[in-house]
Amino acid sequence: MFTLALTKIDLLNLAYLAAAVLFIFGLKMLGKVPTAARGNRVSAAGMLLATVATFFYLTGATAVSLLWIVPALGLGAAIGLVMAQRVEMTAMPQMVALLNGFGGIASLLVATGDYANRRGSFVAIDQLGVDAGGSPGFTLGAIALAALIGGATFTGSLVAFGKLQGVSWVPDQPVQPPGQRWIVFGLLAGALLLTAVFVAWPGAWGVLLLVTLLALGLGVLLVIGIGGADMPVVIALLNSYSGVAAAMAGFVLNNYALIITGSLVGSSGLILTNIMCKAMNRSLMNVLFGGMGAAPAAGGSGAGGSGGATVSGTAHEASGADAAIVLEAARQVVVVPGYGMAVAQAQHAVKELVGELAQRGINVVYAIHPVAGRMPGHMNVLLAEAGVDYDTLLDLEPSNVQLRQSDVALVIGANDVTNPAARHDTTSPLYGMPILDVDEARTVFVIKRSLNPGFAGIQNELYFHERTRMLFGDAKKVVMELVNELEQI
Ligand code: TAP
Repeated sequence: MFTLALTKIDLLNLAYLAAAVLFIFGLKMLGKVPTAARGNRVSAAGMLLATVATFFYLTGATAVSLLWIVPALGLGAAIGLVMAQRVEMTAMPQMVALLNGFGGIASLLVATGDYANRRGSFVAIDQLGVDAGGSPGFTLGAIALAALIGGATFTGSLVAFGKLQGVSWVPDQPVQPPGQRWIVFGLLAGALLLTAVFVAWPGAWGVLLLVTLLALGLGVLLVIGIGGADMPVVIALLNSYSGVAAAMAGFVLNNYALIITGSLVGSSGLILTNIMCKAMNRSLMNVLFGGMGAAPAAGGSGAGGSGGATVSGTAHEASGADAAIVLEAARQVVVVPGYGMAVAQAQHAVKELVGELAQRGINVVYAIHPVAGRMPGHMNVLLAEAGVDYDTLLDLEPSNVQLRQSDVALVIGANDVTNPAARHDTTSPLYGMPILDVDEARTVFVIKRSLNPGFAGIQNELYFHERTRMLFGDAKKVVMELVNELEQI
């Protein structure tokens, strides 16, 4: 008769497998706004399962004391809960930066702690010259890499947090000493060389310490050289690093859950970084070493880019009353939100305005550019918070189809993502960036406070087009004014 005898380690690995499946489904769900919250819960359930399974396995199979684990679990859970509940939606990038940093330092500590425990046996195996039980070279390499990647992730994330939070002693501007790129590459090459030395001399804990110190310096130097406005891309990249560091720690401990989770985080972070760079029409090297944000353009609110043909002409201003009349007469309106909507926290007012238009039988959709705002999904998050119907949020390509046949494009605090120079001006820093073709609409209304540039620091030629009308003012105030005007028609 067939009997299935599962050992404790089999049960643990089965739990890890189930957790990995939950992570993969969770990630898939996170890709779409309507399923994102459920995806988060599914992934969290996977993490809970893996943690609980590890906990019971360790306390049953080894002499691990609950004295340290239970208070640490409780404290960590309490801090996480308070942070998650208190954080403002707009401060989410900072929080993610901190969490990445914690992930990095955890991997560093786990790997170096494991080395401290097993150093004697690594040295013994090395002296005997036999491979007794596994491959010490591989494990030692993983220990040093976990320290290297985890350490750089930790300090890099702290600097990213400081820049986003506006911490006074962390400059928002990129700080690039001469030859910064080569210093970074030199530090990295040095740390990798020391990793090889560590693998060859397993007893040399001083070498591991040096790798760790170089890594901590590397993280600071890399991120301090990047402007605050590029931090969302950096955070996606650091997220990827924290995953790779966790995978390395997984190899050290021979823990499948950690290896799988780390790999998923590492690859998804890298994919997100790539998507963001592409949508900004910039290479990762340009983000890391380009020093965007070094010299803000006059009156600019962003990164202070340069280049692009000089834009001249007259911008035409319209009143709220005029705009309301045009909107009232439209059949189709495309709303184009941008960073200014986030600054003004105008999303609820925007939803109200769209409601007013919809009541009049006007078809209204939202055109969402992938890098509108300052973090991935920034506009989606704000509009979801205001309770906007997900079906009305269109990605770039469908938005451009709708813009071509729309009566009004209502641009609310968006700038760079609407600049037509991206299509034709080869000297523009935006050239080649896919944009929302708002200038294809019959009438364009732009709500912003001035003619100042946005993140890229360049003037937007859209404002001087014949069919563009400027509605100057804070986005929330102007949108509320439009609502009032519509109510009176
Ligand atoms: P921006 O080009 O940065 O323009 C935002 C505009 O909002 C500014 O020109 C500003 O003009 C206006 N504004 C600011 N506060 C306002 C307020 N209270 N009321 C009304 N308007 C206000 O924004 P965008 O079009 O969303 O483009 C995003 C830019 O950020 C792109 O260049 C992108 O590459 C970059 N970026 C994005 C990300 C992600 S992941 N989203 C990450 C890094 C960089 P006034 O000062 O005249 O009001």
